Amino acid sequence: MEDIIQIEIEDRDGTTQVIEVPTDVNLSLMELLKASEYEVLATCGGMALCATCHVQIKSGAENLPEPQDQELDMLDTLPDADNDSRLACQLRLTNENEGLSIKIKGALQ
Ligand code: FES
Repeated sequence: MEDIIQIEIEDRDGTTQVIEVPTDVNLSLMELLKASEYEVLATCGGMALCATCHVQIKSGAENLPEPQDQELDMLDTLPDADNDSRLACQLRLTNENEGLSIKIKGALQ
């Protein structure tokens, strides 16, 4: 089985592209976005403490792991968070996430 999936990323300016991401490396979606040259501050380094990796899940949310309390608490502090918001640093993708579509929303400062 191929351990590469395709996901769709919409940047803050509306630019959308499909990228291929490996699922057999232990990287979070935040790290994968940074590796693909997307601007994500990730000030806290992936500890669910800064919320600058905020993404909106446009489709495929049902195949993601449920958020833990720490992620939900942090999302609660964001004025622009919604029911479909997640912290990319808390998401590790599997082959189930083929076709996931997200929009990057995290603050740039
Ligand atoms: S990188 Fe800080 S909350 Fe995700």
